[in-house]
Amino acid sequence: MQPERVAANPEPLFETINVTKKYGPFTALRDVSFRLGDGEFVSIVGPNGAGKTTLVNVVTGLLRPTVGEVRFLGRDIAGVGPVELARRGMARTFQLVNIFPALTVRETLAVAVASRLRRIGNPFRSLQRDHVLQADNERVADVLGLRGKLDTIASTLSQGEKKLLDIASAFALNPTVILLDEPTSGVSTGDKHAIMQVLVTAAKAAGVRAIVQVEHDMDLVERYSHRIVALQEGAVLGDMPPDAFFADPAMIAAVVGTRPQTPKKAP
Ligand SMILES: Nc1ncnc2c1ncn2[C@@H]1O[C@H](COP(=O)(O)OP(=O)(O)O)[C@@H](O)[C@H]1O
Ligand SMILES: [Mg+2]
Repeated sequence: MQPERVAANPEPLFETINVTKKYGPFTALRDVSFRLGDGEFVSIVGPNGAGKTTLVNVVTGLLRPTVGEVRFLGRDIAGVGPVELARRGMARTFQLVNIFPALTVRETLAVAVASRLRRIGNPFRSLQRDHVLQADNERVADVLGLRGKLDTIASTLSQGEKKLLDIASAFALNPTVILLDEPTSGVSTGDKHAIMQVLVTAAKAAGVRAIVQVEHDMDLVERYSHRIVALQEGAVLGDMPPDAFFADPAMIAAVVGTRPQTPKKAP
């Protein structure tokens, strides 16, 4: 089941324009132009080292592009930084889940929600804040299926639940756009589908306008994406709907890593 697409908007939510990112002499992204439209669910795929995480880091302000431009909601975000970008509505999760092990689910969500509410900056609202915080925690926990786990210590959660808690923390920022770096890595196949279902349902309920995920599981990619962007050695190899992607042996070979059959030369 794919999420419904919201009415097409010619203005992208965000875009990278001819972005190149170098780490010293090494080029991790080459001339990448990528747009995310309203209502889209886009998967970024490619072998290890293709530049997927680097692209997410550039888009979310953690890294500055060496060359090129990144725009979010029509504005150049160069130098804006991840905190301010999160405030403007760009939330993300990380490839390696980094939870506070000693905190409960409720406390973890409270940290995320509080970091959003702090920007209200109105001292007269402080009395309301506990209620807002509590209600918001419960809303986010509900929508991510963690309501029954609010008082559980985060480190004792299953891997799938840790992933959901990480996603829930991103949702606590009331994002416009959410980027997920391998949201289902390290969890069983059955749990992967459950996480994706919860994610898509939660995104609709929370008014998230678009989702970008880095994902290796091609079954999930095919099922949930409107569009697939394949990276290879830092360059965009393909940007197309799932039907076209999975019908293209070159895409499959590049992403899954198997080479097309070529006749062997006689020794
Ligand atoms: N901080 C860094 N310094 C130097 N090289 C890096 C750094 N981060 C990533 N790389 C290299 O850039 C390439 C792309 O990395 P990454 O974006 O993490 O790929 P992916 O997420 O597709 O596996 C890899 O070759 C990786 O080793
Ligand atoms: Mg990565």
